[in-house]
Amino acid sequence: MNIIVTGGAGFIGSNFVRMALSQRPEWRVIVVDALTYAGNLENLDGLEKTYSGRYRFAKADVADSAAIEKLFEQESPSIVVHFAAESHVDRSVLGPMDFVRTNVLGTATLLDAARKSWRDKAGRFLQISTDEVYGALGDTGAFTEATPLAPSSPYSASKASADLLALAYHKTFGLDVVITRCCNNYGPYQFPEKLIPFMISRFVDGEKLPVYGNGMNVRDWIHVEDHNRGVLLAIEKGRPGEVYNLGARCERNNIDIVRSLLKLLLTAKGKPAVDLDSHITFVKDRPGHDWRYAIDPSKAERELGFRPEVRFEEGLAKTVQWYLENEKWWRDVQSGAYRDYVSKVYGA
Ligand code: NAD
Ligand code: DAU
Repeated sequence: MNIIVTGGAGFIGSNFVRMALSQRPEWRVIVVDALTYAGNLENLDGLEKTYSGRYRFAKADVADSAAIEKLFEQESPSIVVHFAAESHVDRSVLGPMDFVRTNVLGTATLLDAARKSWRDKAGRFLQISTDEVYGALGDTGAFTEATPLAPSSPYSASKASADLLALAYHKTFGLDVVITRCCNNYGPYQFPEKLIPFMISRFVDGEKLPVYGNGMNVRDWIHVEDHNRGVLLAIEKGRPGEVYNLGARCERNNIDIVRSLLKLLLTAKGKPAVDLDSHITFVKDRPGHDWRYAIDPSKAERELGFRPEVRFEEGLAKTVQWYLENEKWWRDVQSGAYRDYVSKVYGA
């Protein structure tokens, strides 16, 4: 069975491709990725050799309808798992149009290719979405699948638009669409612009760790492997046209995450984990910064049997270890363009 994984060279996608190839021997995986700044073939190193005949990489832009339709003709996929996206909120503030193009037009292009290709046969489209489509919570409550969409950033608005298109293709054309909405992921191969790897790279470089606002904003965290376990379950057990929230009931405020990272990093360097706040600098807040996210994953637990396995403290310690052991990986992705981006967001 052929399965197309878009965005398979990115953080969550590459972890998914490894999991799928090792746990689903009957699948042949075709990664479709444009290799933007966030996509990296090193994330897929060794797969061609280990899984020869079951793995193909195709460089393509999901918004390029000719390229996507050709891939559908060549590969006749039974499943599409759509991870490809512009994914970083701060970048969507600097330049929203790339987000509209990839996340809205790209999703529409894939949905339409699937509609044409799956006229006479069954196929499933798994839309990878985010809790950010629900907007911000106050100090209490949690997002359920019935929470109205109220995105704040160009990123989350583009993801909400993509979800609505996917649901419209289900209602109008009967396309077998399932949507998962997950909370903040962490783990290996995450691009070092996101909170956890960014802070680790700053510490290693001897720089202060920039926390937005007062650091009290809350995010709900899940290890990337638990997210991907949920995606596999949604592919195999999800009901057509349904949305499933994925989360591990692990809320933390940002300042606590940064202090936990500092403890792990100082200890790893053989230094006493004291005076943590001297490594932190509070910086200008992100425009439209959502206050709090919290996922209620009851529906996925009930219907899919979803059970996250990674305890946050263990997952975080392993992630820190991975970044310390793979400094070359994150240094290689810090190109000139990346340094330019950091100085735009954080100042010189
Ligand atoms: P990422 O930025 O690490 O990777 C995105 C991948 O998509 C890269 O490989 C990039 O090259 C590729 N891509 C971008 N534009 C493309 C285009 N036009 N055509 C083809 N490929 C393109 O992102 P991530 O953090 O791995 O997120 C993957 C998906 O999961 C996204 O849809 C994101 O919205 C969703 N999500 C992420 C999180 C999180 O915490 N990171 C949480 C919930 C949902
Ligand atoms: O909730 C799911 C979403 O999580 C995904 O849909 C997005 O793709 C993913 O990027 C992530 O979005 P966030 O905006 O929550 O993640 P980020 O790592 O950018 O920031 C996490 C929190 O940390 C947020 O409250 C902003 C704060 N932050 C972030 C950075 C990069 C800082 O305080 N300082 C920083 O330098």
